[in-house]
Amino acid sequence: MTVPMLEVRDLNVDIPLPHGRLHAVRGISLSVGTGESVGLVGESGSGKSLALRALLGLLPHPARIMSGTVLIDGEDLTGMAPQQLHRRLTDTMSMIFQDSLTALNPVKRVGDQIAEAPRRKLGKSRSEARAIAVDLMSRVGIADAERRYELYPHQLSGGMRQRICIAIALSTKPRLILADEPTTALDVTIQAQVLGVLSKLKQDENVGLLLVSHDLAVVSQTCSRLYVMYAGKLVESGDLLDLVQSPKHPYTFSLLRSVPDPDRRVHRLLTIEGQPPDLSQPIVGCSFAPRCPFAVDLCARQEPPLEPVVVVDRRAVAPQTEPGPPRKSACWKVDTAPMWPSLISDEMAVRR
Ligand SMILES: Nc1ncnc2c1ncn2[C@@H]1O[C@H](COP(=O)(O)OP(=O)(O)O)[C@@H](O)[C@H]1O
Ligand code: SF4
Ligand SMILES: [Mg+2]
Repeated sequence: MTVPMLEVRDLNVDIPLPHGRLHAVRGISLSVGTGESVGLVGESGSGKSLALRALLGLLPHPARIMSGTVLIDGEDLTGMAPQQLHRRLTDTMSMIFQDSLTALNPVKRVGDQIAEAPRRKLGKSRSEARAIAVDLMSRVGIADAERRYELYPHQLSGGMRQRICIAIALSTKPRLILADEPTTALDVTIQAQVLGVLSKLKQDENVGLLLVSHDLAVVSQTCSRLYVMYAGKLVESGDLLDLVQSPKHPYTFSLLRSVPDPDRRVHRLLTIEGQPPDLSQPIVGCSFAPRCPFAVDLCARQEPPLEPVVVVDRRAVAPQTEPGPPRKSACWKVDTAPMWPSLISDEMAVRR
């Protein structure tokens, strides 16, 4: 396997509390290859945003990185001087957020906001930066870019504003875009269009994507590989098709069963009962055990490690030019995965 463009090892993020700490990101490791689209999915509160923000040093106060290593093209950035580190990270990655209205400056023309980085970082003249901004606007699918350059954020729709945010992210020529729920505030049609813009960037310009979402359907539309996060930890990872066709962790299984599938003749939606654990308290055993339909005694006592699993029940998997990272799961009962659909009783499923 080639060296990944971005690799994160054992990232831990804490939030200090008056009496203790909330261990929000608990030792996650992930990688993204050049031009690869990777999804990080999990329900609200699982630590996705903090993990993503930690990568660019954008953690909200008082959250802090307790440990972790970031490698770019195999180079370990540990020990780099803060300014140099910041530059290296921001030269490589840009971030887009869910709320485009907050992300944009309300009193500045959108075009000028895109032109800012080419002027400041790339030393372009005013007219050169303007031309770059107009070109970027066209590349993210904004028609009539010359005219729209002059508009203010409130004069654009939510979908258009999010395209402006993508154009701003691209203006520093990143190799990877980190996107935190970029379509959650948009309606389904506009959501699909914005995801289409991100997919096209990968296709046409080899810009990688690390897409965070609580919505499995969103990451499935855009990404070829997924990490599944639960209670601050990764519980499963693998190629999208593999993972969707044969989930190897009960949480992924439950997430998949909670997404309506228009192709299925009988719609059985599984609701994931219960709440994730309190991350300010020590967790003993598997963090998913209180909600897991397949839990056994061992699960409450001992934490399962995230380990490579053998995929034996693979049906159709897209041809790979190069094998990616191994499929992994953190579950003591992973060997029973092929039986899970038949073990789910009707009381656990809601027939629509
Ligand atoms: N600024 C903050 N202060 C206190 N707790 C926070 C803060 N930001 C996030 N958290 C807590 O950290 C955990 C992870 O949050 P987050 O990364 O935002 O989750 P996600 O993006 O998966 O919804 C949650 O329990 C959340 O309540
Ligand atoms: S380790 Fe046990 S509780 Fe955890 S997901 Fe697997 S079966 Fe469920
Ligand atoms: Mg979030």
